[in-house]
Amino acid sequence: MEKEALSILDQRTHSSYEIPVHNGTIRAMDLRQLKTGPGDFGLMTYDPAFMNTASCHSAITFIDGDKGILRYRGYPIEQLAEKCTFLEVAYLLLFGELPTEPQLKDWVGQITRHTMLHETTKKFLEGFRYDAHPMGMLVSTVAALSTVYPEARNVHDPEVRQLQIMRLIGKMPTIAAYTYRHSLGFPYVYPDNDLSYTENFLNMLWRMAEPRYTANPILARALDILFILHADHEQNCSANVMRSVGSSHADPFLSTAGAAAALSGPLHGGANEEVLKMLDEIGSKDKVPAYIEQVKAGHGKLMGFGHRIYKNYDPRASIIKWAADKVFEVTGRNPKLDIALELERIALEDDYFIKRKLYPNVDFYSGIMYQAMGFKPEMFTVLFAIPRTAGWLAQWQEMLEDPEQKIARPRQVYTGHEVRDLVPLEKRAAPTTA
Ligand code: MLT
Repeated sequence: MEKEALSILDQRTHSSYEIPVHNGTIRAMDLRQLKTGPGDFGLMTYDPAFMNTASCHSAITFIDGDKGILRYRGYPIEQLAEKCTFLEVAYLLLFGELPTEPQLKDWVGQITRHTMLHETTKKFLEGFRYDAHPMGMLVSTVAALSTVYPEARNVHDPEVRQLQIMRLIGKMPTIAAYTYRHSLGFPYVYPDNDLSYTENFLNMLWRMAEPRYTANPILARALDILFILHADHEQNCSANVMRSVGSSHADPFLSTAGAAAALSGPLHGGANEEVLKMLDEIGSKDKVPAYIEQVKAGHGKLMGFGHRIYKNYDPRASIIKWAADKVFEVTGRNPKLDIALELERIALEDDYFIKRKLYPNVDFYSGIMYQAMGFKPEMFTVLFAIPRTAGWLAQWQEMLEDPEQKIARPRQVYTGHEVRDLVPLEKRAAPTTA
């Protein structure tokens, strides 16, 4: 039986070490014994952007980037998207098992009771300019909830944690809808607790003067599927922020606001908004070849293509493509789809993109679908943040319950000046340009 360990010969000292291997990793702290002398700090790993560093043990989401596999708590994303509702999947992420019928009924009832926003929070939203970006409003408003529920800072009390988790999952669609209504100058629509999670979201977005809003069931179901696909994705940038902010024992509202801030970046959740800008820039199907030549010449990026983890395809993209076709049956085909399909066709045949593993990811089709449903591009990342809140909270809760975790505080490699004495102000000369 081969031994699960590394034998390391430190050529600086000719000393040998045996470093245990667990789950395909070595503990970075085991490297600290490799010293050049008694005063030496010992070895660290250097891994900018954590390209090859596991920050935690997690049982929530499994991804196999080479095989294009995504599973929540062991269940394939394809089965969950086909057979579950988003709140059912949120329960799975948070509690580790799919709910029974009575558990789901209670869970949905609990979440539904937390969809309303405190009136002071609505007034907070009214302070934004009419043209404020919805993600800026969402991040700020989620953080403001911390002031409404001060008891949330008792992060070690499971019941307190559970209540804040339900508040956040319940209120995210309300906040999201209110940011949209604010940008149009429309009155806010209160939640209708007789509607499902996504039907109620559409109600708060689109209802005008009609006494009751009736959501199109195909659009409501398509949104539910999109929410399932976006619910979690292991240690992505925003999940890492959720864990890091949460590791200081900040309350879940401030931690979620930090995670949403990370998601707003164009390299993360903002990518679907950038896809639409790219398709607008291309303008028509016949201009796709010229755009592709520009990208290959190093001018411009192919937004919505490629992924840090998936090396062959993003399993969520194929499900979204299916859902988009259902949406287009209701909304009419989005003309940008022709540009997107041509872009995908050429990119998947072109060696330049194949060699670079550039193929459509989850963001490529989600934006086209959201636009067809009537969402403006500025809302796309908000639509990502709503379901990802369940994933962030599952990651946060797992981190707090992990006895190995403590406040996240990485090391660095110092590359600055050696010690130097201060020059008094009157004697400082402007640095000479070499
Ligand atoms: C996500 O779903 O968070 C994105 O695909 C980004 C990632 O996983 O790194």
